[in-house]
This record gives sequence, C-alpha cells and structure tokens, in this order.
Amino acid sequence: MTVYYYKDRFLKGGETPVPVEDRAFNYGDGIYEVVRFHRDRSFGLQEHLERLRDSAEAIRMALPFPLEEIESIVRSAVSQVEDEVVDVYFQISRGEALRVHPFPQTDPVLSLYARPGRIYTEDFREAGVAVITLPDERWSNCYIKSLNLLPNVLAKQAAVEAGAYEAVLIRDGWVTEASASNVFGYHDGVFFTHPANRHILNGITRRFLLRAIQKLGFTVQEEPMSEEFFQNEVESAFITSTTMELMPISKINQRELHPLGPESPVWQILQAFRTL
Ligand SMILES: Cc1ncc(COP(=O)(O)O)c(C=O)c1O
Repeated sequence: MTVYYYKDRFLKGGETPVPVEDRAFNYGDGIYEVVRFHRDRSFGLQEHLERLRDSAEAIRMALPFPLEEIESIVRSAVSQVEDEVVDVYFQISRGEALRVHPFPQTDPVLSLYARPGRIYTEDFREAGVAVITLPDERWSNCYIKSLNLLPNVLAKQAAVEAGAYEAVLIRDGWVTEASASNVFGYHDGVFFTHPANRHILNGITRRFLLRAIQKLGFTVQEEPMSEEFFQNEVESAFITSTTMELMPISKINQRELHPLGPESPVWQILQAFRTL
C-alpha cells in the first residue's frame, strides 16, 4: 500500500492534484529527501530534515511548514503503512504560478509518499553489484538535493543498459559519486571517499559510515580517488544510500573485484554501521 500526501492532506485513491504550472513539474524547482523507517524507528530522520532545510536555503526557498511539522506529517504517513520497512519520499516544490523563470510569489508545497521499502537480502549483498564509470555531466551544486535529476536518470539508465546496477561518475578524472549513491574504495588498510563539497551529495548514509569506519579504528581519507586508481587498484569498493545501506561492488567496468566474506573490513563496517 502507498500513502500519498499533497499540500495539506492525505489523498484518496485515484486523485492526481498536481497543477500543470507547479514549478517542480515545470522546472524541477524544488528539493526532496528519502528516509527509511524500520517500523517507527527512522534512520537519521533528523539529519534528513536538516539537509532538507539546508537545500531549501541553498535555493532560497521557504519551507511550507516548520521542520517539526514536516516530521510529524512524515511520521503520520509511515504509521499508515503496515510493513516492517517503509520508505518515505518527500519533496518541496517552490509552488504554483504562471510560468516565468524568476521566482514568482508562490507558496511552497510539500508532497510525499510512504511505501514498503525494498529489502536487499544478505545473499544479494554478498554477491555485490556491477558498476560502470561515466562522465559526471551534472552541475556544480550537487550538494543540494534538488529535483533536477535528469543527468542522474540518464547515467542510471546507461548503467542498466550495460547490465550494471549503478553508474559511478567521473569529473575531471576523479570519482565523485554515483547516480543515486556515494562511492567508497578500500585499499591497503585505508578507506577513500570524495570530500563533502559541491561536487557530491553528502549522503546521510555516507556520514554514518564514516563514523562507523572511525569507530572501528580504520583509516579513512576524504579524498577523491582518481579514475585510474578506482578502475585498477582498489581492493574493494562499495556504494551507499539510505535504501541500500552499504552495497559492495563486484565489478568495475570489466574488472571483477573479490567477493567479500563476513570477515572483510567492509563487512565489519556494515555491522558497526547497523549498531550506531
Ligand atoms: C546523487 C546521490 N548521492 C548520494 C546519495 C546517498 O544519500 P543518502 O545516503 O542520504 O541516501 C543519493 C541518494 O539518493 C544520491 O541521489
């Protein structure tokens, strides 16, 4: 079952109220978040709400409600879905107005859905996923979780068409992140991931994993990996996101990576992450 919320109320089946001149619809003028709940326990809800606030500030848009009210609408939506694992997508559009590029007078609009989350089995995780590398064709403000995802959509589609699961993006010879996840590499006792600057979305999962890595005493360097290092050198690599947690990479383009056993550092990190 999926629960939908639009503007100021939960929707009944079949309703599609998005106005044709909503700016999210016309321009991608808005921001969003995805949060996972295990029953009523969220993973990092506070961090997601704070990132929503930061994204809103970055695009100079007011939130339609205080964060606490958005939180209670999110929680109310989750409570209406009976499954064990529930994902909530919520977005804020700048609102509805006659279509002109500069900001018109609008009331920002919250819309949301909550639905059962995909659960990745441990077998799937142990097998890992294949990735391809592609040029990062996005803009220079990737730290904003904006609705403009066309380059991400095209990259993911190219990955799927190549028989892979994700597209790892390369900007000026350096790995930034993937189309819908952050990227980590592991080599010679050190974890690497791109620093949280304008070229990546600072994933909430990424932030928690950094804590888990440090808690276990591994060295982590928030430095970009060169394409060459990532393609030819890293011993292990993984991608991270709210819905996947940590997903090992089994293949980078044509290079197979070793399967990861539960004794591997990457596996230990996942266990530590889950108990943070
Ligand atoms: C481009 C991009 N990077 C990273 C992430 C991971 O972020 P989080 O861990 O907050 O889900 C996402 C998630 O959607 C994403 O779209």
